[in-house]
Amino acid sequence: EMLSEFCTKYIMVGQDRTVFASYYLQYVEEIKNFEVYDDDVWVVSFPKTGTTWTQEMVWIIANNLDFEGAKKSLRERFPSWEVCTAIDRKRLYEALNIPPRQCDTNSIEYAKNLQRPRFIKSHLPFSLLPKQIQNGTKSPKMICVMRNPKDTCVSYYHHGILLMGWKTSLENFVKVFMAGKSIMGPYWKHVLGYWNKRHLPNLLIIKYEDMKANLPSVIRTVAQFLNRTITEEQIQLLCKHLSFESMKSNPAVNFEDLIEKMKKINLMVENEAFIRTGIIGQYKEELSPETIIKFNGWVKENVRGTELENEYIF
Ligand code: A3P
Repeated sequence: EMLSEFCTKYIMVGQDRTVFASYYLQYVEEIKNFEVYDDDVWVVSFPKTGTTWTQEMVWIIANNLDFEGAKKSLRERFPSWEVCTAIDRKRLYEALNIPPRQCDTNSIEYAKNLQRPRFIKSHLPFSLLPKQIQNGTKSPKMICVMRNPKDTCVSYYHHGILLMGWKTSLENFVKVFMAGKSIMGPYWKHVLGYWNKRHLPNLLIIKYEDMKANLPSVIRTVAQFLNRTITEEQIQLLCKHLSFESMKSNPAVNFEDLIEKMKKINLMVENEAFIRTGIIGQYKEELSPETIIKFNGWVKENVRGTELENEYIF
């Protein structure tokens, strides 16, 4: 019953019982058999972990600080691969009176035909990525971003309110999240799926908290991983571009075109934004002390023996 609000149109797929909107079934085969190139760059993550931030950083580093090119919408430069394929997306764009772009309504096809090197974002767990990635016949560079699960969960809740019209309480959503029933959940299957692959030479795991604490250092790591040289001066420029304030007011990355129109036809909640607070530990303001205790117990239980133990800030 608790799940009904989220799961009526949702299905569970694969060994991890990953939760998807039901339209995913139409694309399962296409996704599995998607042709991957060694020069692709993939950003992979659980939703709300700082994916957009990471994509912008990766794209600009890989494109040798092309700030001019970065004025184009991120959704065109770095499509959300498996997400933007639903029929109802087309209806949504029609209702909004926005000419639907292929990157928004048929992102798999769009990604297929991108100019190489292609930049592709995916929220799929490792176990559902294209076969060529899983069996290692292709080794695109993959950057996976991770974030403190409590902040991820709270951010996810606000995303649901903003973009998916959820009417439920945060406390209820936390239960859904911990039960593994939010989209792309179960959370630990997703996170550990990538964590357990961390030794792959073509996979780099970065953390939202490290980006907050020392963005230049993360930029250097990513540049090295992508075989790019970057000067200290360029790093400073990039840090400015990637600051919370700058990203929040950057129409190429803040989804403002979509959100503003959705607000106009009352599909959106007035005071929500995609680039929202960008704070570490924001959960403390929003979760009750009892929920935090329960959540921490759940985290401890799931990280035991995984070497992720020291990686999370409780
Ligand atoms: P909050 O909701 O906690 O503010 P994703 O892109 O994976 O959906 O992640 C969204 C989260 O990343 C949001 O978290 C958003 O505010 C945060 N974010 C986006 N750009 C950021 C930036 N430049 N600095 C810090 N956080 C950022």
